[in-house]
Amino acid sequence: MTCRRAGDATTGNDGSDAMTNEVWVLGATGRTGRAVAARLAATDVSPVLVGRDATRLTEASKSAGSGARTIVAASVASMIAEVRRQRPAVVINTIGPFADTAVPIAQACLPGSHYVDLANDVIAASALLGLHEEAVAAGRILVTGAGFGVLATESVVARDPETRRALADFELRSILQERR
Ligand SMILES: NC(=O)c1ccc[n+]([C@@H]2O[C@H](COP(=O)([O-])OP(=O)(O)OC[C@H]3O[C@@H](n4cnc5c(N)ncnc54)[C@H](OP(=O)(O)O)[C@@H]3O)[C@@H](O)[C@H]2O)c1
Repeated sequence: MTCRRAGDATTGNDGSDAMTNEVWVLGATGRTGRAVAARLAATDVSPVLVGRDATRLTEASKSAGSGARTIVAASVASMIAEVRRQRPAVVINTIGPFADTAVPIAQACLPGSHYVDLANDVIAASALLGLHEEAVAAGRILVTGAGFGVLATESVVARDPETRRALADFELRSILQERR
């Protein structure tokens, strides 16, 4: 997925302009949320950290090393309201269980924002895929099952011979490095 940087415009198929070009991390006080925020902050994409506790969000912002903007929202419903109101360019959802959070958050993203989650269960992934047509109509991308250890994602990766070769290379290099 391409993340646009400050200054870029984002426009959906319906002609709607995203109100911001921000990348939001929902659940930014959690283990994965913090890691995602730190990885983004290490690039030229400045994340916006969204969570339900102001103090822990500030800590997460500091540990991401970015002094990132934070948004306090007491519940998933409040986060959804903020997504609808502020319309970030990309929403990364790290709040499980994804069977509960994926569809409502992804629906709030359309038509203005792209969406990514880490769902690792078939119910959540299937439900998200049910929004395919709506996302296509809006010109937005919905990604489910990001990360590692997700059977659906790894099955797709494993079917591609070029990716399989690259992974085998990577594994071999990791093993050799460990033995040094
Ligand atoms: N696909 C992958 O590779 C992968 C990898 C790791 C994890 N996961 C999945 O990702 C999810 C998160 O894992 P994690 O280890 O990061 O969990 P975690 O450390 O417990 O973090 C969960 C985050 O979600 C927030 N949250 C939980 N319930 C909420 C609610 N009702 N309303 C608002 N915020 C809520 C928490 O906020 P507070 O801090 O306020 O509690 C926290 O920020 C899990 O479902 C896990 O299975 C997937």
